Amino acid sequence: MQNKFDIRDKFYLNGDEIQIISGGIHYFRVVPEYWKDRLEKLKAMGCNTVETYVPWNLHEEEKGKFNFNGILDIKKFIETAGELGLWVIVRPSPYICAEWEFGGLPAWLLKEDGMRLRGLYEPFLNHVKSYYKELFKILTPLQINYGGPVIMMQVENEYGYYGDDTEYLKWMAQVMREEGTVVPLVTSDGPWGDALECGKVEGVHPTANFGSKVAQQFEILKKHTDGPFMCMEFWVGWFDHWGNGGHKTSNMEENCKDLDEALQYGNINIYMFIGGTNFGFMNGSNYYDELTPDVTSYDYDAVLTECGDITPKYEAFKEIIGKYTKLPEIEFTTKIEKKAYGKLSCKEKVGLFESLEDISAPVTDLFPKSMEKLGQSYGYTLYRSSLVKEKKLDKIRLYNANDRAKIYISQEAVATLYDRELLAEHEISYDFEKGSTIDILMENMGRVNFGPYLDKQRKGIDGSVVINGHQHMNWEHYTLPLDNLHKLDFTKGFKEQKPAFYRFEFLAEEKGDTFVDMEGWGKGCVFINGFNLGRFWEIGPQKRLYLPAPLLQDGINEIIVFETEGKASEELVLCDKPDLG
Ligand code: GLA
Repeated sequence: MQNKFDIRDKFYLNGDEIQIISGGIHYFRVVPEYWKDRLEKLKAMGCNTVETYVPWNLHEEEKGKFNFNGILDIKKFIETAGELGLWVIVRPSPYICAEWEFGGLPAWLLKEDGMRLRGLYEPFLNHVKSYYKELFKILTPLQINYGGPVIMMQVENEYGYYGDDTEYLKWMAQVMREEGTVVPLVTSDGPWGDALECGKVEGVHPTANFGSKVAQQFEILKKHTDGPFMCMEFWVGWFDHWGNGGHKTSNMEENCKDLDEALQYGNINIYMFIGGTNFGFMNGSNYYDELTPDVTSYDYDAVLTECGDITPKYEAFKEIIGKYTKLPEIEFTTKIEKKAYGKLSCKEKVGLFESLEDISAPVTDLFPKSMEKLGQSYGYTLYRSSLVKEKKLDKIRLYNANDRAKIYISQEAVATLYDRELLAEHEISYDFEKGSTIDILMENMGRVNFGPYLDKQRKGIDGSVVINGHQHMNWEHYTLPLDNLHKLDFTKGFKEQKPAFYRFEFLAEEKGDTFVDMEGWGKGCVFINGFNLGRFWEIGPQKRLYLPAPLLQDGINEIIVFETEGKASEELVLCDKPDLG
């Protein structure tokens, strides 16, 4: 008999009513060697389903070049869940929010002038379609109807918080069907304002996202559907952004009361079961009145910690879920240890200015071009020019520049401008010799993942640099995605107080999870054996970066720290405990 999952008055699996008790795990935020461990823990807590988003911007990092390997092997993740007897909910984007760079949209979309997102705008739709062609080659056979564990898929994500183009949602649902989706489709929206109204589409089952006031929210959802009722994101924690003053934690007693109530009402997906890590430059940002980029850890105060540890929340949830379903006996088969490798001393260092030609090839243009127009998605871009007419920098203003600028004259720092500071003219008053070099190091701190600012996410300088009242022209652009640090030559020189690379080595005879302590360091990012672990910033709250054991290798391991403020320590300490602030 063919397996089937149905949505009628309730959820039905091969004709039998089921209650979905799901937990969110984003495979792309957990190293693949640990997927099984996280899934076993999910199952042992009593969940019967796992939910994941799919990040388009990782799977198609460059237009037309697809990657479904390693940490992006979604097939393997889904199959591992299936082998453990878990069902899978897939939320395949194109937009995922998720505190993820640009809400999962590829930055290369912004290379095109006039690009509009998440509406019936043909150039956008064409890109979605060609991506879905590849993605659904993988997802289609994994559906329950064909023997796989996927029971439902989501159309878009909280569309009602963004727009009201129902025709676009219809198109999205239709293209998912055309590419092979046979399982039921759902939408998910906040039960506030008109969101459920704007986000729904005919033939697709609505669900709601919330983390408190359970009865009230389910009652609102009931006005939009006769059931079954599902909370697609039952928030049990929250995320941190840089400078938020301390790691956010939830009230566990309330979480437990809400979970119990939600399970009486219907179906849930716990967001997040494990949050994991925003490796690389992939954190998102919010923008309400100001830019608030998210930290590297996506710990989320979730049910498991960022590194997969069982928490008191896990034990409490397990007990509650145990009232609704029989808890299975599961053995955790992955051996995971923590190691404090101790203090490492800096072996070598080299300045960024000294390294530019080694890790980048300059592009010349009259006006400064945005990062996206330069074909770059993430990291830093350095804009360089000569000041041949001026001999004093009185005032400077950057137009259409994001997110943080460090301005140097003859490699001396003269100003740092961040977010809204970039919207005004700055009095500098700095004397120099005619012909001096001006360098502007722009940092992309993570594209916004929510709201109308999504359409304004070009990074670098996408306009002009106005110096002493005139547009300064003729720029060299050095793209710095920092994906080629093996090209660094540490003999090229180093000057204090400047952006630089610092190299450390250590042997890990026994491999264990460890945490890189950034005490004494200013701002930048950390690489382990060439893999970008993520960003640090002394303003916190996160103080240590999680380094999972599978990223370590036999023999010598190399850590490179890139630091932009000239604030570096000669040492780096690898600890066996996290510190999220
Ligand atoms: C919304 C989104 C999620 C996530 C949460 C907050 O519900 O749908 O992707 O951003 O908010 O963590």
